[in-house]
Amino acid sequence: MRAWLCENPIGVDALQWKSLDTPEPGPNEVLIAVKAASLNFPDLLIVQNKYQMKPPLPFVPGAEYAGVVEAVGANVKHLVAGQSVACLSGTGGFGTHVVAPAALCVPLPPNFPLVDAAAFIMTYATSHHALIDRAALKSGETVLLLGAAGGVGTAAIQIAKAVGATVIAAASTDAKCAACTQLGADHVINYTTENLRDRLKELTQGQGPNVVYDPVGGDIAEAALRSIAWRGRYLVVGFAAGPIPALPWNLVLLKGASLVGVFWGEFAKRQPKDNAAMMGELIIWYLQGKIKPHIDATLPMSELKHAFQRMGQRDVVGKLVMVN
Ligand SMILES: NC(=O)c1ccc[n+]([C@@H]2O[C@H](COP(=O)([O-])OP(=O)(O)OC[C@H]3O[C@@H](n4cnc5c(N)ncnc54)[C@H](OP(=O)(O)O)[C@@H]3O)[C@@H](O)[C@H]2O)c1
Repeated sequence: MRAWLCENPIGVDALQWKSLDTPEPGPNEVLIAVKAASLNFPDLLIVQNKYQMKPPLPFVPGAEYAGVVEAVGANVKHLVAGQSVACLSGTGGFGTHVVAPAALCVPLPPNFPLVDAAAFIMTYATSHHALIDRAALKSGETVLLLGAAGGVGTAAIQIAKAVGATVIAAASTDAKCAACTQLGADHVINYTTENLRDRLKELTQGQGPNVVYDPVGGDIAEAALRSIAWRGRYLVVGFAAGPIPALPWNLVLLKGASLVGVFWGEFAKRQPKDNAAMMGELIIWYLQGKIKPHIDATLPMSELKHAFQRMGQRDVVGKLVMVN
């Protein structure tokens, strides 16, 4: 097998495309031939030692992937060789093969495209958990999505529309804003060229958005919080811009607002039944055509460094997927 090996987590440049022995699955594991693996922002952080999870070295990055089971461990009952699965195991996906815990593998319905399957779990689960579980977003409410053209952002557009909310998508370029409109956003704001607060006032008749979904952090966060509606919910999803905002708490008081943390991975661990029910609903929505990952590009696995470069330069709409 071949895989991108991280022996020293000092950044993307240090990754090496290496030949390795193909591992045998342990009793509760399966060996998967990876067909597709998508990039998520945490993949970029983990190879720089900037992510909360720090795997033992060396490791193969690639949190999320889909492929075909080639061998199953002695205790594995629910999967067989030849079965297509999607898996989010945190590492291992950026290679030709991976050994994964069987319990983390989601058997796929027949004909589920493997590129979509590899680009599904992290973004849709995060955005569903954030908008529906944590913010209780309802039909008729308005949600502001920051970084709306990114991975979790594009999933959030579709999920917010699926529950009947009005979506204001905010992004850094006109091309990204146009993509958000195509994905179903009702309104768009280019936060590089337009004043976020003025535009939000215009679009919400001075009321502000009921929910703010923020995977970006940085400077834009304070303007978004200042604009939130009475009893609004501000979802802290991530800090793609780098700096973790330090916001004046009086803004929360003045709006009777809630600052709500979102940590989907921990939710999945602590509330596995709730997470499974949520994934079930997402798969039904996919099969009904309500949601579908927006794939910016599929690239050969060997071009991972180029893909990481594009993600780091904010040059991706939706998801990049590496394929074998
Ligand atoms: N809390 C959770 O459970 C959870 C789960 C998954 C992901 N996340 C977090 O959510 C965030 C987004 O993840 P993602 O996979 O959707 O990433 P992504 O596809 O790269 O999207 C991130 C967006 O952030 C914006 N951005 C602003 N400044 C940036 C910068 N300096 N570098 C890169 N992007 C920048 C970009 O939009 P514009 O160019 O339009 O500004 C970009 O589209 C990350 O912080 C990730 O760690 C959290």
